[in-house]
Amino acid sequence: MLKQGPMRGVSVWAYRERPSGHLFPGVGDGIHEVAPLATEGKVMRPPFVVSLLAVALLAVAFAALPSSEAPTGFDNQSNGMVDDATHQADQVKFDEVENVSDGLGPLYNAQSCRECHQSPVSGGGSQVAELRVGHEGAHHRFENAEIPIARGTEIITGRTLVNDRAICPNGAFPNTEIQERLPDSENVRTTRLSLSLLGDGFVEAVADQTFIELARKQCKETHHKICGQAIFVPILEAPGQTGVGRFGWKDQHASLLSFSGDAYLNEMGITTRLFPDEVTKLCNTASEPNDVPDPDGLDDLDHFARFIRATKAPARDGQLAATPQTRRGSELFEKVGCATCHVRALTTAPAGTKINGGKFTISDALGAKTFHPYSDFLMHNVGTGDGIVVPMLEHYGRRMYQTTWRNFSGEDFHNARFKVRTAPLWSVRLRSRLMHDGASVTLRDAVTRHGGEASEVMHHFEKLSHADQEAILEFLRSL
Ligand code: HEC
Ligand code: HEC
Repeated sequence: MLKQGPMRGVSVWAYRERPSGHLFPGVGDGIHEVAPLATEGKVMRPPFVVSLLAVALLAVAFAALPSSEAPTGFDNQSNGMVDDATHQADQVKFDEVENVSDGLGPLYNAQSCRECHQSPVSGGGSQVAELRVGHEGAHHRFENAEIPIARGTEIITGRTLVNDRAICPNGAFPNTEIQERLPDSENVRTTRLSLSLLGDGFVEAVADQTFIELARKQCKETHHKICGQAIFVPILEAPGQTGVGRFGWKDQHASLLSFSGDAYLNEMGITTRLFPDEVTKLCNTASEPNDVPDPDGLDDLDHFARFIRATKAPARDGQLAATPQTRRGSELFEKVGCATCHVRALTTAPAGTKINGGKFTISDALGAKTFHPYSDFLMHNVGTGDGIVVPMLEHYGRRMYQTTWRNFSGEDFHNARFKVRTAPLWSVRLRSRLMHDGASVTLRDAVTRHGGEASEVMHHFEKLSHADQEAILEFLRSL
């Protein structure tokens, strides 16, 4: 069973193997339950060092604090971080359609966050897929795209995202042709599906150390067959600070505020305090940064991040979750080893913990909450990688190299070239297309596409009877 206990103030996940040799993290059946809390039993208690004894006693006392379940639902209500009226006002910002006068573009993909994050409610995912491209340079090293616009007079660099729309030619600039069109040379290509943001406040509130420990244990318990990679990424609101990436298909962000800034610029063309530089100045007329604070002192980014943080976690299909077939599927999901990566339960750091380089303090509504994402949020090579490296300037801003970032390693990003974050399976039943590229359209297709680090697990899956395989798929349909 999965046990969580504080060790020197850090959340630690510990696995014990069942006699079968398979990993059994989390709870055992199809219904979400609170993972039993237990002390690790390894808290240091040197008898004569009073301060350490105090720490140990505190740790024991903390272990007695229950963690509670994160609230779930698709009801547009707050998870308790803010009141419902505030949450709904934040949602209005998230849903808002931006126009040229607000700073939309010059290059963009959509006019509102909601356009891509809406199913079944605002903040969910969608079928909208984006195009990412690049090419191989010397020694087969990946290089970002170089896309000429304005009849070749300007080259867009430093990105892999292609913007599918542009604000001109228009009435004010009838002859300025800035639509991005790919040259043939950009021959490493993929699509990436829009992700759901529901419950991401809980994901953000998980301690970095929890993911690092998870990676270490996973690798050890599987005798190095499955070793997720945790990657340190810049926290833009805390220059110089980094955190363990957990958002995006490539774990490119750790902070929801940073991600919101990234999305506002790269999806919608809106500059902010975190991303003050336009992708191109051609046809640009709105003043910079486009996003300015309201009278209450909060700008759109603050509202987006608070909206996402206050969403409830996705709820399961309660009817399906209770059937014998689903329960059987849930057990088999553990048994064959899916749950080694698709981790059933994680617990957030306690309320009062400062994260994101000290810029965000976990509140009571987000602290010490257990939730069920079915992901380790680590990157793995399961044989599906698209070969596109996270583009630095796109995600961390044109000025990122003016800052020295703690624990930051460009090489780590290159090593993750063919890796993808374990797709969280909470609310997978609400998706019609699967995997990062949307190329799998049935659950069986998505599952059987796994190879690489998941090869042995897939071997176990393939050896199951058809009925048992179906039970696993039925379990997925309940998530
Ligand atoms: C044109 C479609 C589109 C628009 C508009 C858009 N997004 Fe996204 N969003 C995506 C895609 C695609 C991903 C996955 C990106 C990736 O990793 O390559 C994503 C991922 C995210 C994530 C990471 C979720 C996770 O759990 O990993 C966050 C947070 C996010 N978007 C916030 C926003 C916000 C805030 C806005 C509005 C400012 C926005 N997005 C606008 C398409 C969009
Ligand atoms: C080594 C880690 C690992 C193991 C083991 C693993 N997965 Fe995955 N899974 C991933 C990764 C990584 C992705 C995303 C791949 C991509 O998008 O290219 C993924 C994606 C998926 C998806 C698609 C989800 C979506 O939203 O598109 C499903 C369904 C899935 N896995 C089910 C399973 C099942 C069932 C098993 C066990 C038979 C399993 N996985 C074993 C890592 C793993």
